[in-house]
Amino acid sequence: MPASKEMTTIGLERLIEPASLDDFREGDAWRYPQLGRGPLARFPELLAIPELFDLSRLAAVYNDPIPVWMPERWMKNAAHRGLYGTFFAPESALRLHRLGATLFFPNVERFIPQVRPLLARLERDLGVVDVYKKSVFNVFASAPGAGAVAHFDPEINFAVQLKGKKRWWISDNTHIQFAPSAYSVLDTEATMGPALRAAWGTAPRPKKLPGKPRVLDVEEGSALYFPAGCWHKTKTLEESIHVVLAIWPKSWIGVLADRLRASFPQRVSCTSSQAERLVEQVTERITALRASDLVEGRRPRQARAGRRSEAR
Ligand SMILES: [Fe+2]
Repeated sequence: MPASKEMTTIGLERLIEPASLDDFREGDAWRYPQLGRGPLARFPELLAIPELFDLSRLAAVYNDPIPVWMPERWMKNAAHRGLYGTFFAPESALRLHRLGATLFFPNVERFIPQVRPLLARLERDLGVVDVYKKSVFNVFASAPGAGAVAHFDPEINFAVQLKGKKRWWISDNTHIQFAPSAYSVLDTEATMGPALRAAWGTAPRPKKLPGKPRVLDVEEGSALYFPAGCWHKTKTLEESIHVVLAIWPKSWIGVLADRLRASFPQRVSCTSSQAERLVEQVTERITALRASDLVEGRRPRQARAGRRSEAR
């Protein structure tokens, strides 16, 4: 990826308004949703990709089945709810969209390479040392009345509204600090992975959006940031298309574990005296670690002054 292309595209600063880069990186603005309003013209990089604004064109280049989210009014029982997220061929999905379903085009970067510099720039601006999973560019198209049921995702989310209007309800996640995967109120024990079940522990699984949500109405040109793990649901107010750039950095413990793992021989079993020695070695090596060892190899962060954030 040529650095120049990456650096002239949309950066973090334009996606976290009204927070500033300084407040986001060094303060606590990253903990809270940030909604910036303005004309779509401030994102010329998105306006230059016609497929993002025309579902037929998008479906024509998107060479994969598309997950379809049925509106709540179609989900009268458990069998119906089981169909939420079913994959359809693009032509059938477009037909369901005309009837009121939401189309979710995941990983659009696979088919529209122009969006890749946007993801690379965001990783760089966020100072991501390493990603846990590849960053993705997703497109959502929904008819009035449709929306996403209450859920949370493990990625850091940046949403830009390209067309229409949408209402978001966003709540803190007070149950799980670091979500190992996504969870929706439609999930059951059987549909959750072991890491997510372990993260939940014995806490009750909410069946609706928990807490006191913030209600945010977004319109064409709005950019909404919300942190990883944040609960959210949406309702489309006007025929809508929005994009989400999702970044899932490796956790600090993951980065630390990688550095340590590289310095230990593989051992599949050991005696208690060997284990004791291993613990001593881990302690020695953690004590000897310098902060620069952890961030070695990371992309250089751009030193840029940002505006002070408004009180929210
Ligand atoms: Fe989501």
